[in-house]
Amino acid sequence: MSSRARRAAKAVGATAGALTGLGAGCLAYAGLYEVNAFRLRTIAVRVLPPGASSIRALHISDIHMVPAARARQRWLSGLADLNPDLVINTGDNLAHRDSVPYVVASLGGLLKVPGVYVWGSNDYYGPTFKNPLKYFGRSRRPKVEDSPRLPWGDLDREFKQAGWIDLTDTRETLVINGVRLGFRGTDDAHLQQDHYVSVAGPVDRAECDVAIGVTHSPYRRVLDAIASDGHDLIMTGHTHGGQVCIPYYGALVTNCDLDRARAKGLSRYEAAGHESWLHVSAGLGTSPYAPIRFACPPEATLLTLIPRD
Ligand SMILES: [Fe+2]
Repeated sequence: MSSRARRAAKAVGATAGALTGLGAGCLAYAGLYEVNAFRLRTIAVRVLPPGASSIRALHISDIHMVPAARARQRWLSGLADLNPDLVINTGDNLAHRDSVPYVVASLGGLLKVPGVYVWGSNDYYGPTFKNPLKYFGRSRRPKVEDSPRLPWGDLDREFKQAGWIDLTDTRETLVINGVRLGFRGTDDAHLQQDHYVSVAGPVDRAECDVAIGVTHSPYRRVLDAIASDGHDLIMTGHTHGGQVCIPYYGALVTNCDLDRARAKGLSRYEAAGHESWLHVSAGLGTSPYAPIRFACPPEATLLTLIPRD
């Protein structure tokens, strides 16, 4: 080998070594630090009638609880200190068959607050390993038939005992701070179990002051239906905010047909001439088979609903 070839081979080796080191460093940061770097996002949303008292709604999602997730359990427990007026839980609470008591204990004081919820695929079925490259293809219904079943029914009993309201394919009205909040929810669109048609119809302002749609996965067919019925706000989770993101670029995937720019946070969503606020939670957990987050920390969101101008 000539000296020039030796130098080139050395440079290639050094570059490969540096890239491997950088990758290992990023992976360590994502799996050892950021996955537990919980954040509370706070935003104000103008959806209440003029003159109404504000409402503090805590949005939690995608807890993916496992018994060993001590940091997640501790952080969740602290959320009760926020004293919200309302909790909205958009599903994927479980990731292990023994997780129900851990979810209940972690939510603790929040279960004394009025709450509404819907289920996600990870409440019904246990996690399995998935090839990460599959997330870059067209979003398809996961093959869950062979996945272990999770005890979501036990969690449902606990939530109901606490007074929380299951919005699955249901309409319900809650009066908070004198404001009538009209909720409609669906089952999980990722499993193609959404039946919005069972709650569909134009929002009736004689029945509610604010109309809120709640669903786990923000597939456009569901968002379109909720927005076109005239809802003020749509609450969803599922995307994990992209989970592994590129700094200053954002999410690479949403695990559904929603555009990447709306993988998390608040945006306007338009359908059939109606505009709704859409809030997507980046969630608190991850699948135990992909316990990393990068440029997308786990979160809960405190939305302060305030009067329109
Ligand atoms: Fe999830």
